Amino acid sequence: MDDDLVIHSKGLSKSYGPHVALDDLNLSVPRGATALLGPNGAGKSTFLKTILGLIQATSGEATVLGLDIKTQGEAIRARIGYMPEYDALNPEMDAIHQVRYSGELLGMNPVVALNRAHEALQFVGMGEQRYREIKSFSTGMKQATKLACAIIHDPELIIADEPSNGLDAKTREFMISTLNTMVNEGQRSVLMASHLMEDVERVCENIVLLHKGKLAAQGRIEDLKAIDREVEIHVWGGATRLEELLRDRGFKVRREGRVMRVANTQERTTTHILQAASEVGAQIRRMHEYEASLEDLFLAIMENMGYDVKSSDDLLSSPIEARRVDAPESLGGGAS
Ligand SMILES: Nc1ncnc2c1ncn2[C@@H]1O[C@H](COP(=O)(O)OP(=O)(O)O)[C@@H](O)[C@H]1O
Ligand SMILES: [Mg+2]
Repeated sequence: MDDDLVIHSKGLSKSYGPHVALDDLNLSVPRGATALLGPNGAGKSTFLKTILGLIQATSGEATVLGLDIKTQGEAIRARIGYMPEYDALNPEMDAIHQVRYSGELLGMNPVVALNRAHEALQFVGMGEQRYREIKSFSTGMKQATKLACAIIHDPELIIADEPSNGLDAKTREFMISTLNTMVNEGQRSVLMASHLMEDVERVCENIVLLHKGKLAAQGRIEDLKAIDREVEIHVWGGATRLEELLRDRGFKVRREGRVMRVANTQERTTTHILQAASEVGAQIRRMHEYEASLEDLFLAIMENMGYDVKSSDDLLSSPIEARRVDAPESLGGGAS
């Protein structure tokens, strides 16, 4: 198995009766921070529970940290930290005992578990509230306690299902920076299901996007954004020669007549374009550069779902009409 992958699945499917919740997923989740995105009902929670061995896949296979989800569920759960979507806490317990209990469930000795529970609660900002009963906690405090339970055994991979769901701005900020610290300073991997693009952009460098149980896109956010980081040019005379020269020089180009979109993935793309145009004697009438936010990217991929989109290459090869051209009016563009 590829050592850089923390999760790998092949043809993974899960049905609830007749309802297909996960449909033939081939996923590769690398080390580092990855977001599992998708609208409600896309299958995010089902995917997480399936790879943890908490629910059984209908068909296909997967490994987590090289371990088989079918036969090594227990070993997987011992090596990852899982923060479930819904409340999994005992309201009658105080935080310290709840977190210690999670450690004991993982087979830690009670003394070690208690020591680690103190550390974990401190780390998630709950040091002062650790002796309070969970029933008196706000949503933010409960989420932090759930995270402490997930990290008591210092797992190398943290799987968090909607970690900032229901949090106000301040506690959400704390949750996101805590996850960030684990990734950047702790060298841990995180897979977080989320529908909050802002949080995702702050923590994750990779995304897996699900839509109705199917894989819509996966890869590095930077690479995927290439579909929306393009320079658009309108060319008069020599468009074919310019297109060929740019391709020869390693640029991804898509073209419809005079309008060309050049993937803006290198330094000084515009300079290269102008240089190439002058070499082939083509005239550039308009030039417009733009870059998408993750939100735009998400929408663009969703819009393109009619195509069998799997990677940034596939997205780039989809027809130009599939994406709205929005050159500013000063450059002759405007909403079409
Ligand atoms: N235990 C279950 N029994 C039947 N259907 C379920 C069950 N859990 C989830 N589903 C259905 O499977 C689909 C995916 O759900 P889920 O994985 O919770 O999506 P997400 O986490 O992306 O919102 C939804 O249509 C949901 O209604
Ligand atoms: Mg969910």
